[in-house]
Amino acid sequence: MSPSPSPRPFVYADHRLTCSGVDLTALAEEFGTPLYVYSAEAIRERAGLLQAEFASIPHTLCYAVKANSSLAILKLLAGLGCGFDIVSGGELERVRRAEPSALRQVVFSGVGKQVWEIDAALQSEILLFNVESEAELEVLSQRASLSGKTARIALRVNPDVFAETHPYISTGMREHKFGIDIQRARHVYQHAARLPGIEPAGVSVHIGSQIRAVEPFAQSLQRVRCLVEELRSDGLSIRYVDGGGGFGIEYGFEAFDPAASVAAYAAAIRSVLQGLHVHLLLEPGRFLVAQAGALLTRVLYTKQNGAKHFVITDAAMNDLIRPALYQAHHEILPVLETSPQRPTVTVDVVGPVCESGDFFARDRALPELRSGDLAVLLDAGAYGFSLASHYNTRVHPAEVLIDQGQARLIRRRETLDDLFAPELL
Ligand code: LLP
Repeated sequence: MSPSPSPRPFVYADHRLTCSGVDLTALAEEFGTPLYVYSAEAIRERAGLLQAEFASIPHTLCYAVKANSSLAILKLLAGLGCGFDIVSGGELERVRRAEPSALRQVVFSGVGKQVWEIDAALQSEILLFNVESEAELEVLSQRASLSGKTARIALRVNPDVFAETHPYISTGMREHKFGIDIQRARHVYQHAARLPGIEPAGVSVHIGSQIRAVEPFAQSLQRVRCLVEELRSDGLSIRYVDGGGGFGIEYGFEAFDPAASVAAYAAAIRSVLQGLHVHLLLEPGRFLVAQAGALLTRVLYTKQNGAKHFVITDAAMNDLIRPALYQAHHEILPVLETSPQRPTVTVDVVGPVCESGDFFARDRALPELRSGDLAVLLDAGAYGFSLASHYNTRVHPAEVLIDQGQARLIRRRETLDDLFAPELL
């Protein structure tokens, strides 16, 4: 079997780990650790794969800002023609600051939109509000009428489809808080069509995140297709289908061919939507940015408690919470490819935060890591920095973006002064 191409830009050259050709040891020296490192090239490549597979139908990729909301990354994606899926007024402001012309390609999702957020989105003339409840519809209608605007809406329907993923990130079943029951949707659309300031223009669905199979996407879109046909027969002009995000990646070292995976995903979606004549919106987050990024960290100490070996890094759960929160697996690589003399040791890789849940790996066989060594946590480009916290009064790490062989600091490391700035004594 021929080896599949690496899905990640992090590869060894002369036994030193690099990101798109840039040496990670040099980055650690220049910018310090913990450090998020992203490859612009890898993000472009993923966006290109999706755009090529959907080229035959009208579509817009609305990147899910929550996955990685760095302004530089938003700007990069806007430059590739992406729109954005936002879930807050803060994310709307991020899009405005990164690329104001992209506001016209924004879809606004979320179960709890506040009045100021709705007003800001109306003023920004975004593409579509993904409305998640009848109560929200009423507020949106009032606010649109007050400001003399018309809100294009899609109801986010809950298709009651099971998608195999972590329970915290599955959203498409009736017991979840998301969306409007698809059985009731037709009725709600009829009501929406009569409300002032509201123009039903699409149907939207999102069934969860890190979904590796394509069937759940096809199944839920099939249900959406039936609804679109019913709504059109009711006289509504439904032009958009928003298929949500959720397309997963391989976090381990199993073979993963992003191009082949996208091809299968897109083929399933295209086939369900064939002949429906809609503009397809997709909200990918993880697939675009997860594997383009890694968290670079330095080993502070190693120690042994009984039979257990611990590697204590300068990064912690406040920098990357996925292992602690979802028992997520992130592969760990030493930055200097180790010589055969270094033994493999079964270790827990942990951070300095005062919680037993502050771990990156448990009972993992790794080449021996020593104090001062550098290591990376792979696939940390999505839901890494964006979920970072100040827990234990730790500052947010710095972020660099590698583009055309150059590393650019896109967020400086916070200082303690930054951290205390909002506090009052
Ligand atoms: N659209 C909506 C409405 C969403 O709620 C999400 C993710 C996305 C799009 C993007 O999904 P993606 O393509 O990235 O799977 N923190 C978790 C993931 C939470 C996902 C929340 N919603 C994690 O680290 O795995």
